Amino acid sequence: MKFKIMHAVLAAAFASAGAYAQAPIVIKFSHVVANDTPKGKGALRFKELAEKATGGKVKVEVYPNSTLYKDKEEMEALQLGSVQMLAPSLAKFGPLGVKEFEAFDMPFIFPDKQALYRVTTGPLGKWFFAKLEPKGVKGLAYWDNGFKDMTANKPLHTPADFRGLKMRIQSSKVLDAQFRALGANPQVMAFSEVYQAMQTGVVDGNENTPSNIYTQKMHEVQKHMTISNHGYIGYAVIVNKKFWDGLPADIRTKLDGAMAEATKYANDIAQEENDKAVAAIKAAGTTTVYTLTPAERETWRKAMSPVYKQMESRVGKETLDAMEKATHGK
Ligand code: LMR
Repeated sequence: MKFKIMHAVLAAAFASAGAYAQAPIVIKFSHVVANDTPKGKGALRFKELAEKATGGKVKVEVYPNSTLYKDKEEMEALQLGSVQMLAPSLAKFGPLGVKEFEAFDMPFIFPDKQALYRVTTGPLGKWFFAKLEPKGVKGLAYWDNGFKDMTANKPLHTPADFRGLKMRIQSSKVLDAQFRALGANPQVMAFSEVYQAMQTGVVDGNENTPSNIYTQKMHEVQKHMTISNHGYIGYAVIVNKKFWDGLPADIRTKLDGAMAEATKYANDIAQEENDKAVAAIKAAGTTTVYTLTPAERETWRKAMSPVYKQMESRVGKETLDAMEKATHGK
C-alpha cells in the first residue's frame, strides 16, 4: 500500500516536472486600441514572429481594445506582473511617475516624422527608456501612430472655437495645459470610455489620430473633424523588467529580434493606416473633414505656445532642450 502511494506521488511529481519543462513562457500583451490599427497590427505581428522564432517556447497572448485592462489599470498590472507587455501612448507615463515623457505631447513639437525618428532612434530615446528602469519597467521599442487631429460637434477652425468645450484627454498634464490655453475644459478619461462619453455628451470632443478616431467609431458621434496635426501619438513598448531579465538569454535574444522586426513593420504601416482612416471617415459621410490652412495652423501654434513655459518645470528644462536639439537635427 505504502509503495503504491509513493509510486503515485513520484509519478505525479515527474509528470508536473515534465509539464513544467515543456510549458511555454506566456507573454500577455495588453493594449487599448483595435486590432486594425498600427499598434494592433504591430502587436499581432510580434506575436507571430516571437512564436515562430522561439519554436513555440514562447506564447504571446494579445488582448486588444481594453479587453483585459484599461489605461491606468494596465500600468499597474505590468508592475505587478499580471501582464508582461504593453504599448501605452507616450502621454500615459505621468501616473507611473515618469513625467519627462510628456515632452512628446508638447504642441507642434515634431515638425515632421524625421524629427520624431531622430528622437526615438537616437540617444535621447534611450535616455527616456532609462527613466523607466527604477519603476521596474523596461522600454523595448518606440512604435509610431501619427499626428493628432481634433473632433467635436462644432467646426474647429480658430483657437476661439474651443472656448468652453469639454475635451477628453489622455492622462498628461501637458495636454491639460494645451486645452486650457485654448479656453477649453480638458477631462482625463480612459480611451475605452471615449465613444460613450461623446454619445452621451459627457465630453464635446477629443484629439486623436485618424486610425483611433475611425476604429473607435468616434466619427459616428462627432459631426466635425479638423486635420490639424498639432501634436503626436506614439507608443513605448514596455515589459516588466524582472520578467524580461529573468528570461533565458537565448529566448530573450530571439524575442529582441522579433521585436525589432515588428517595430519596423508597425512604423512602416502607421502613416498608411492613418491615411486610410481619413478616407474612411470621409466616406462614412457623418463627419465633415476640414484641413487647417497654414495661416490657421499658425494661429493654433501661437495660442498653444505658452504651454512650453508652463510645463517646463514638470517635464524638465533639460528634457525640452534635448528635444529641441534632436528635433532640429543637432
Ligand atoms: C488615447 O488614449 O487616445 C490613445 O493613447 C489610445 C492609443 O493607445 O492610441
